[in-house]
Amino acid sequence: MSDSTTVPPLPKNKPNRWPLTFATIFLVPVLTALIVYHYESFDPAELPVHEIVGRPTVAAPRVNSRMLDGSERVGEGKLPGPEDIAYDHESGLIYTGCNDGWVKRVRVNDSTVEEWVNTGGRPLGVVLSRQGELIVADTEKGLLRVSQSGSVELLTDEAEGVKFKLTDGVDVAEDGIIYFTDASYKYRFEEHIWDILEGRPYGRFMSFDPKNRRTNILVRDLYFANGVAVSPKQDFVVFCETILSRCLRYYISGKKNGTVDKFIELLPGVPDNIRYDGEGHFWIALSTEVSLSWQWALKYPVIRKGLAIMEKYLKRPHMEKNGGVFVVDLKGNPIAHYYDPRLSFLSGAAKIGNYLYCGSIAVPYITRLDLTLHGAQ
Ligand SMILES: *[C@@H]1O[C@H](CO)[C@@H](O)[C@H](O)[C@H]1NC(C)=O
Ligand SMILES: *[C@@H]1O[C@H](CO)[C@@H](O)[C@H](O)[C@H]1NC(C)=O
Repeated sequence: MSDSTTVPPLPKNKPNRWPLTFATIFLVPVLTALIVYHYESFDPAELPVHEIVGRPTVAAPRVNSRMLDGSERVGEGKLPGPEDIAYDHESGLIYTGCNDGWVKRVRVNDSTVEEWVNTGGRPLGVVLSRQGELIVADTEKGLLRVSQSGSVELLTDEAEGVKFKLTDGVDVAEDGIIYFTDASYKYRFEEHIWDILEGRPYGRFMSFDPKNRRTNILVRDLYFANGVAVSPKQDFVVFCETILSRCLRYYISGKKNGTVDKFIELLPGVPDNIRYDGEGHFWIALSTEVSLSWQWALKYPVIRKGLAIMEKYLKRPHMEKNGGVFVVDLKGNPIAHYYDPRLSFLSGAAKIGNYLYCGSIAVPYITRLDLTLHGAQ
């Protein structure tokens, strides 16, 4: 008679809740990710990185691993994304291209900043010719020449019928020939991450001869062709191949004229611009370190596809660190390494007197490091 009262009430939901929780916190995101992955058409390629992944990067005999500690900021707030640096000894002026389209001039003796010429595009590589004109690799416009009075002339914006999409690095030889790169004929500067993630060689190293206005492709199929520097003896030109963390050497005289070989590989970072200092050394700006996760991304297209999906739908995690500058001699032997865990997207470096000036696409100033006080040890 009291049976009914002894039946305990069924516990509501409890045993059923956990599969539901499992489904929401685990299955739903995983299935969504798989579906997104499956239908994502972005298709990264295998990269030729068997010589890079798993091998130690080169080390320099002298190191400054805290280069920001002694660095001062020059022109703060007036120099958005100063990518590359050119210096005119006669006038004491630094030229740098900014992300507001201006080529700005910075007077080194008092750090005053002047807006000089607006290209209407996005100036990246800058170099002064012997005639005192500024040659500009403008990522949107192509290869430009700016006269001393500030008039802008387009030199070239295509080769073999293929337009440049990411004109990037430039230097000029004593005979007037301009050597420059188009990092990618597929992706624009703002999309450069997609070029890296896709892993196909859309970069070209080229020359432009102002005498006959001819544009020649010297090396094609490059994985993000970047900074360019002519050797002091005018016997070769070094250019950076960013994704593969190396610099190649293209001969412009002698027996090897017209051939290309490796200048330095296994750099401890991802190279951007390269500049010769007039004293036997090239200064290579490193955007970020070559980390284990970066190496995995290089090796496995599936990881790059995952990163591409994150880039598209979410926000890619900030993985860049330990950017800096790697110094090599004329044979490509390591000399010094300046870096800092807090540095990323460093893009250009120039030694001016006893100072190291660095530009970066990510900050609104140039940094200056006194090498007498803070030289690599
Ligand atoms: C810097 O150089 C300019 C041009 O040579 C000169 O007019 C100016 O007085 C100098 N400023 C300082 C602080 O030395
Ligand atoms: C190197 O080769 C280029 C093109 O093949 C040629 O125009 C140039 O004159 C050569 N330079 C030298 C110094 O032999």
